[in-house]
Amino acid sequence: MATILALETSCDETAVAIVKNRKVLSNIVASQIAIHQPYGGVVPEIASRHHLEAINHCIDRALNVAKIDWSDIDGIGATCAPGLVGALLVGATAAKTLAMVRNKPFLGIHHLEGHIYASYLCKPQLQPPFLCLLVSGGHTSLIHVKAHGQYKTLGKTRDDAVGEAYDKVARLLNLGYPGGPAIDKLAQTGNSQAFPLPEGKISLPEGGYHPYDFSFSGLKTAVQRLVRKLEQKTAPLPIADIAASFQETVAKSLTRKTITCALDHNLNTITLGGGVAANSRLRTLLQNSTEKNHLRLCFPSLEFCTDNAAMIACAAVEHLNRGYNSPLNMEVQSRLNIADILEFRLNERERERMKID
Ligand code: KG4
Ligand code: ZN
Repeated sequence: MATILALETSCDETAVAIVKNRKVLSNIVASQIAIHQPYGGVVPEIASRHHLEAINHCIDRALNVAKIDWSDIDGIGATCAPGLVGALLVGATAAKTLAMVRNKPFLGIHHLEGHIYASYLCKPQLQPPFLCLLVSGGHTSLIHVKAHGQYKTLGKTRDDAVGEAYDKVARLLNLGYPGGPAIDKLAQTGNSQAFPLPEGKISLPEGGYHPYDFSFSGLKTAVQRLVRKLEQKTAPLPIADIAASFQETVAKSLTRKTITCALDHNLNTITLGGGVAANSRLRTLLQNSTEKNHLRLCFPSLEFCTDNAAMIACAAVEHLNRGYNSPLNMEVQSRLNIADILEFRLNERERERMKID
């Protein structure tokens, strides 16, 4: 029964949470969305500076809300990869310092592993193997979770991440940043059949299409062309219908490939993770399709879909319960494939064993 305090600062949320096994004791998120909004996206330097300003206050609040003190904490976790390096550094350095000062183990966590673990917070009895559809601002993958820490990517996007496509289409429709929630809301009032849009497909050299890989850049370009065409003849622009048509195409593509992948690999449980997992249409379509195909579906509640530290703490609990922790010289990395996580850990262990700084 480990209790972990974890920090997540990989992008534009300063987040601190305390999790006892799979129970969330506190979950503090200081969002920087309003700060980055005028720029239409995240400005890395501004993000790091604001993490630095917010982090101590968030840590104090997490302890106060959980009503516990340092003696109840068994380990300190932080996201170490992937993400914005300057932003990651703030959380990782704060966590390492706390681990040193409070004499607790430090646990460096992969951000995507955190998104996978978000589902455990809502379904504590969840156990691998399962298939996770991971859909965020930077990633779109179908990950076979074979066992704790053992991941195989079965499908991924060949170009834009789905969250990125949402953000770009939202910019085209002047809906601001981040685009996902704005399109989701607007789409509820639009006609999803108004404009047929192409679903991205990846051709295979031997003919046919890749069954599990995604492509969203063609769809984004199609929306761009549609907007230009409509601007010339329709005023005002039917943005709700465009948003609904785009959202329907995305949700259908993600659902179809996820179900095919799960059935092909005999995986009867599907989980969702990442900011786009909050999407209402995706949740409905997946719910309907899993029921039809007698599969189990498990998705995190909305607060654990977008970036948060509870998911990072939940992954850290699992590591600590297995007797694993990270060296204090663990570096942050802007890119790291989740499939390489094992190698990443072996390297750490090796470094620790050989006492290499
Ligand atoms: O997981 P996340 O918070 O950060 C990353 O790790 O990238 O995901 C952020 C992404 C953004 O692109 C945002 O537009 C998208 O998730 N998003 C949504 C929704 N809520 C957030 N996309 C579609 N529908 C939503 N309801
Ligand atoms: Zn994320």
